[in-house]
Formats: sequence, structure tokens, C-alpha cells
Amino acid sequence: MKKISIFGAGGFGREVQMLIEQINENNKEWEFIGYWDDNDKLPLIINDFPLLGNLEQLNEYNEGDLYLVCAVAEPIIKEKILNRISNKYIKFPILIHPNALIGNSKYVSIGEGTIITAGNIITTNIEIGKHVILNLSCTVGHDTLIGDYSSFMPTVNISGEVNIYKKVYVGTGAKIINLIEIGENTIVGAGAVVAKSLPDNCTAVGIPAKPIKFHKNEL
Ligand SMILES: CC(C)(COP(=O)(O)OP(=O)(O)OC[C@H]1O[C@@H](n2cnc3c(N)ncnc32)[C@H](O)[C@@H]1OP(=O)(O)O)[C@@H](O)C(=O)NCCC(=O)NCCS
Repeated sequence: MKKISIFGAGGFGREVQMLIEQINENNKEWEFIGYWDDNDKLPLIINDFPLLGNLEQLNEYNEGDLYLVCAVAEPIIKEKILNRISNKYIKFPILIHPNALIGNSKYVSIGEGTIITAGNIITTNIEIGKHVILNLSCTVGHDTLIGDYSSFMPTVNISGEVNIYKKVYVGTGAKIINLIEIGENTIVGAGAVVAKSLPDNCTAVGIPAKPIKFHKNEL
């Protein structure tokens, strides 16, 4: 079995640990060794697994190859954490729940570190970047591109021919109709219907989704 750990011991981190258990039920692939997190107020044991340390300690880990996924939903924070990981032992797996329905791998590409949880349906001619999170029961239609570090909360529906740039966050239940572009570092509110393309660096909400504010592309 390959050793695996999770960066981010919050609620989604614990859900990813459950995802790893469910992958193992089909095929005993992973030995889960614990969590990393920069929050020093967390308990030392989280649902029976140890808090292994912070980012600095992760970079000092030297016990051989260690797989790691980043279970942090906010794209801008996720990118910052991943850019600071310099440990040569760390590898980034793709985690896919056994009940996710994904088209032929000849026509669907998925980047390293991407997490696809239960109930997702991803059809064909789709490119998903690195360190993307597709939380529970999302759908992704044909000819769609999803950029690195983007995160989709539960039950987001992406129609066909949608181009989603890097570091986009889409809130739970949002719907994105076909032939839409969503710019880099943009946030789509829960329940929004994106019926027109959205620019970079904005927060858009409502039906149809409209930008309500703009923000920086850095922390
Ligand atoms: C869109 C969102 C990111 C905005 O957060 P924010 O930047 O902190 O903005 P605020 O909460 O200050 O809201 C700004 C305004 O937009 C409204 N608003 C916020 N979210 C909205 C939404 N999803 N739909 C419609 N209006 C929304 C607020 O009521 C507020 O209106 P007001 O100015 O008239 O009072 C957030 O509300 C959201 O929808 N997050 C997604 C959460 C989610 O999916 N979580 C999943 C966890 S698994």
C-alpha cells in the first residue's frame, strides 16, 4: 500500500479521509497516515488519525515517498499552500470515488492532486487541471475545460462547452449554462445561474449571476 496524507484537517479534509477509505474498499491501495495543517489549535488526533504537523514539518518529512492531497477548498489558499511544498518525497495522486461516472480516459484528462468525490458525473472531451476539487454530485458536460486549483462545491452543474479558468470557486448548487467562460480567480455564489461569461477576479451571485464585487488575485 502507498502512504497517503491530507493537507487540511477541516470538514472537507475528514470527508477526503472517508473518500480514501471508500477507494480502499474496492482496491486496497492507500495507507492513510494522517493530516497536516497550519492551524496550531487543532486536536492532535482527528477521527482516530494523527495531526502530523504543519507545512514546515511536511517539508521536513523524510520517511520515503508520501502521497498528499490538499483538502482546502479556497483556490487562492490552496495554490499558495501547494506552491510552498518543496519536499521531494511528496507526490500528488488523483483520487476518484468508485461510484463517480467518468467518460473514457482517452477523452477525459485529469491533473495531479485532483479530488473527485462521490456522485460526480463527468462525460466526454473534458480537461480537468491540477488540484481541482469536485465535491459531491457535480456534473460536468462535454467539451469543458477546468483550470488548475478550481473548486466546485456539492451539486454544481456545468453544461457543455464551458471554459473555467484557474482558481475559480463555484458555490453549492450553482448552474453554469453552455458556451460560458468564467475568468481566473472568480467566485460564483451558491445557487447562482451563470448565463453569461464572467470576468476574472470577481464575485458573482444570483440568477442570472452578476458580479457584485472585484478582488485581488493574491492573498
Ligand atoms: C457568494 C459568496 C462567496 C459571498 O460571500 P462574501 O464575499 O462574504 O459576501 P457577503 O456575504 O458579504 O454578501 C454580499 C451580498 O451578496 C449577497 N449574497 C451572498 N451570497 C449570495 C448568494 N449565494 N446568492 C445571492 N446573494 C448572495 C448577500 O446577501 C449580500 O447582499 P447585501 O449586500 O444586499 O446584504 C457566499 O455567500 C457564497 O455563496 N459562498 C458559497 C458557499 C458554499 O457553497 N459553501 C459550500 C460548502 S461545502
